[in-house]
Order: sequence, then C-alpha cells, then structure tokens
Amino acid sequence: MFQPDDRCAYNRPAEPMDGFNTGEAMAAKILVIDDDPNVQRLLTYTLKQEGYEVLVASDGAEGFRLWSAEVPALILLDIMLPKVDGYQVATKIRAEEGSAAHVPIIMLTAEREVEQKVRGLRAGADDYLIKPFHPAELLARIKSLLARFAPRDLLVGRPPLGRVLAFYGAKGGVGTTTIAINAAIALHRELGRKVVLVDANLQFGDHRVFLDLGLDRKSIIDVVTAPSIDLDLIKQVLVHHDSGIDLLLAPPSPETAELVTEEHMPQILDHLRSLFDYVIVDIDKRLDEINLKILDQADQFFVVMTADLSCLKNVRLVLETIGHLGVEPGKVHLVLNRSNAFTGISMKNAESALKRTIEFQVINEYRGAISALNSGAPFMYTKADSPLGRSLLDFGRTIDKTASGTPQPALGTR
Ligand SMILES: Nc1ncnc2c1ncn2[C@@H]1O[C@H](COP(=O)(O)OP(=O)(O)O)[C@@H](O)[C@H]1O
Ligand SMILES: [Mg+2]
Repeated sequence: MFQPDDRCAYNRPAEPMDGFNTGEAMAAKILVIDDDPNVQRLLTYTLKQEGYEVLVASDGAEGFRLWSAEVPALILLDIMLPKVDGYQVATKIRAEEGSAAHVPIIMLTAEREVEQKVRGLRAGADDYLIKPFHPAELLARIKSLLARFAPRDLLVGRPPLGRVLAFYGAKGGVGTTTIAINAAIALHRELGRKVVLVDANLQFGDHRVFLDLGLDRKSIIDVVTAPSIDLDLIKQVLVHHDSGIDLLLAPPSPETAELVTEEHMPQILDHLRSLFDYVIVDIDKRLDEINLKILDQADQFFVVMTADLSCLKNVRLVLETIGHLGVEPGKVHLVLNRSNAFTGISMKNAESALKRTIEFQVINEYRGAISALNSGAPFMYTKADSPLGRSLLDFGRTIDKTASGTPQPALGTR
C-alpha cells in the first residue's frame, strides 16, 4: 500500500487553503474505509487537523455498516480491501441509498490504469485519487465534493423546487436530447439539484442509447400499465444513472408508445415535481395532445433550434401556435444550439426573422457531442471541463438562477 515516503507526505502540515476551516467543513463527518492501519492513522490525523470528524472502518462490510448507521458526509474508499472490495462497497451503497440521497465517494487507488478509474466511476464513485497523493490535494477534492453535494444535504427538511423544464426540438437532430441530458447532469452534479430526466419521445426515445442502458430497464410503460399511479410506483420505475440523476425512460418499442395518453402526463409530472428540484422533459417537434399537455405543465419551455431556414420556419410556427393557445410568453425561451457553427445565418439574422431574442446559446463541438453519444457517456459526466461541457454548465447555471427564483404555485392549483 503506502510507501514510507508517502507517510512523510502525510506528516507534513497541510498547506493553508482559503475557506477551509469554515463552519461547514468543521461539521462534516468523513468515513475512511481502508485496511492499512498506517493509512488509517495518517488520514485520521490529516482530516482531524482540518476539523473533520473521522470514522474508520477496516473492511468493506464494516464500512457499509458505518455508512448506514452514521450517515457520513463523505467516504474515502480504498479499492483493495479484503473480502468485499471498494467497487462492491460503492455499488452496494449506491443501490441502497435511493434516489433522494447521494453520499460523495472518493476512491483511493494504488493503480494508475484508466480502467480502474472507469470501473470506480461506474461503481458510483464521484472522484478518485491515486496513491501516493498530497494531503492538500485530498483536502481540496473533499472540499469540492462537499460543496457540490451540500445543497442536497440542505434539502433535508425543505421541499424540492418542483420545476418542470421542457426541452422541445424545433426540428429533429437540432440537439434537444443532447442539451436536455447534459443540462440535467449539470444541474445535479455542478449545482447540487435533485434532477429527474423524462424521455417523452415516446416512439423513438433514445436516452437508453445516450446513457448506455439496456431495453430491460423499466420505463414509462411500467407506470401507465399499473392499476393506479402513485408515488411508490413512480419511485420504483425510475432508473438511477451513475451521474446521480434519475430517469423515466421512454417505452422500449414504438408500438407500446400509444399506451401512454395525454391524461397520464399531468399525473406523472405532478408526482415527479413532489420528489425533485427539476423535472427535465425531452420532447420532439410534434405539437400533439401529449406534448401540449407537457407544455401546459411546464414552468419553462425551451425551444431548441439551429440557425437554418427550415428550423427558423418551424420556430416561427411554434411560437405562433403556442401564442394562440394562450401560453404565457415569459415561459418560452429560445436556445440556439451549435451557435458558432457557420450556417450563413447569424444570430442577429435569426433574431430579426423571429422578432425575438435568443436567450441561450450552446457552442458547436461535433466531435465532443458525437463521441459522447456513441460511447454512452454524456460529456457533462465524463468531460465537464471540455468547451462543450463549460457551455452547457453556463446554460445550467442561468436556468437554475431563473427557475429557482420564480415562486412555485402550490401543487394542485395549476
Ligand atoms: N452543441 C453541439 N455541437 C455539435 N454537435 C451537436 C451538438 N449538440 C448535438 N450535436 C449532435 O447533433 C446530433 C443530434 O443530436 P440530438 O441531441 O439527438 O438531437 P435531437 O434530440 O434534437 O434530435 C447528434 O449527433 C449530436 O451529437
Ligand atoms: Mg432527441
């Protein structure tokens, strides 16, 4: 495990870091799961120096028990544990904690291989550190994860925001699904919100492809074919994704899609509102009864477009139609995807053709978007720091600011 000189690194006092000894850090309880007594001692020393409360487990089973009994704010988890290894511990915790909670896990590994990292992330770790590491790095990662998940902790005792955000593609292929999925992950992982993503492309929903999930996973069909729709049923049908968001998947085949009717949507969305801060709904360009019901339920309606003539034509028609339906104009927003791609139509041209401001832009990065799609790992999960990831994060921040600020009507009054 650790080399003697690694221990020396631990004996060095941690470098001072701004804001470390905050009340928040002081209060946090950290669970260390590692079988090496030296590592236990050194981690305990370092963490206590920073004011954290430390719990120690020497094997996976004890670690799991302490997690369940003590509800730590964060776990440092060694991979090479006797009997139950670190991957198994992480998988078990993720399976048991349910969709309303998420304890941040940092995996400690002696190996450098990418597969170890990927396996760790798939098992449910949020971050990993390769031994030996400097205490300052460990503490910085801990602080960042605690900050990221703190709003979730604060959620205990306060009701979820319960906002429905619908993402509507003015044309197939403009990037609606890409934006909906990655915005959902940004709202959860970077902004600490509880998020559920609904694939409402009932016939050809492709979240399973984007998120590498099989046809065997539960879907909205399991909701609508049950004798009655209640919260417990909805919770059972949701699929938890490694990124931390929950999913309500589309039917596994087009022919079953018709089992979902427009009466189902308001019920389903109302239940989801009561559980999550954001209910992100991905819908296609059809203005059919189901999509209109979703539009009616949505607090914010994002029309995703690209700068080309057929898209502009569709956006104009959609804006006219929803105007006639009496939809409040303030909840409709235009999102220009691939905003910096050359199309011959500038954003100004598009705005003047539509006589409307385009409030949001997402940059063009074809490789980043397509390789994420084809690998089943959204870029907001694996490459949040890429230009496309940063663009989506800016978008997520803005919608979070707007959406979390507006007062939410009580359930049942809409
Ligand atoms: N910002 C972007 N930059 C480059 N390519 C993108 C971007 N957003 C989406 N794409 C690509 O466009 C294609 C269609 O995306 P998708 O999200 O499935 O669109 P839609 O849901 O509107 O049909 C995919 O190949 C995707 O990788
Ligand atoms: Mg789509």
